[in-house]
Amino acid sequence: MTRPMIAPSILSADFGRLADEIAEVADSGADWIHVDVMDGRFVPNITIGPLVTAAARAACVLPLDVHLMIVEPDRYLPDFRQAGADWISVHAEACVHLHRTVQHIKELGARAGVAINPHTHESVLDYVLQDLDLVVIMTVNPGFGGQKLIDSVFPKVERLRSRIDSLGLPTLIQADGGVKPDNAHSFWSAGAHVLVSGSGVFGARDRAAAIRAIKAAAS
Ligand code: DX5
Ligand code: ZN
Repeated sequence: MTRPMIAPSILSADFGRLADEIAEVADSGADWIHVDVMDGRFVPNITIGPLVTAAARAACVLPLDVHLMIVEPDRYLPDFRQAGADWISVHAEACVHLHRTVQHIKELGARAGVAINPHTHESVLDYVLQDLDLVVIMTVNPGFGGQKLIDSVFPKVERLRSRIDSLGLPTLIQADGGVKPDNAHSFWSAGAHVLVSGSGVFGARDRAAAIRAIKAAAS
């Protein structure tokens, strides 16, 4: 990959005009649309469910990247897949039988991702890594948009990058939280090739310029 893919998080969009907001970033160079699902149990906040996910699906043709910050995600995987999720990520911390959950996502025909919190060691992924299409490294504590980046997480991204490369896997690494045009280079050079940005894109007056600037992080 020669430059990062960018997945704007709709958490920071104006939900009163969600379809227009998504269409705007889709026309401005976004690669995926990131949907942050929160249940008020795994994280303190409550956000989006399958209904809004389906509305996001109808608003663009980009891959829909659904990040489930919920307990017992297996109960809801079919609903989110049916709502149009192309990529589904669950949290390692929320899954008692992570391997089974990953297989469940794949059986539904979606690409499978696993997210890990800032304090979680990447070795929890050792025995599922070969099955994953995506690893989501949380660079903030999940629950809210607009938080400050926890930059002590960068060495974890680097270690995971080397492990994936040494195994010759196609697994993508996504960094989620605190990505802005002025720090995107650090994420890219650590080895994260998909960058989620909520407030960094939707909070910018010129979203196309913000997306261009984040993508320019590779140079
Ligand atoms: C945090 C979410 C992130 C977040 C990103 O729980 O998973 O996707 O919305 O937002 P920013 O870019 O504002 O940190
Ligand atoms: Zn997210």
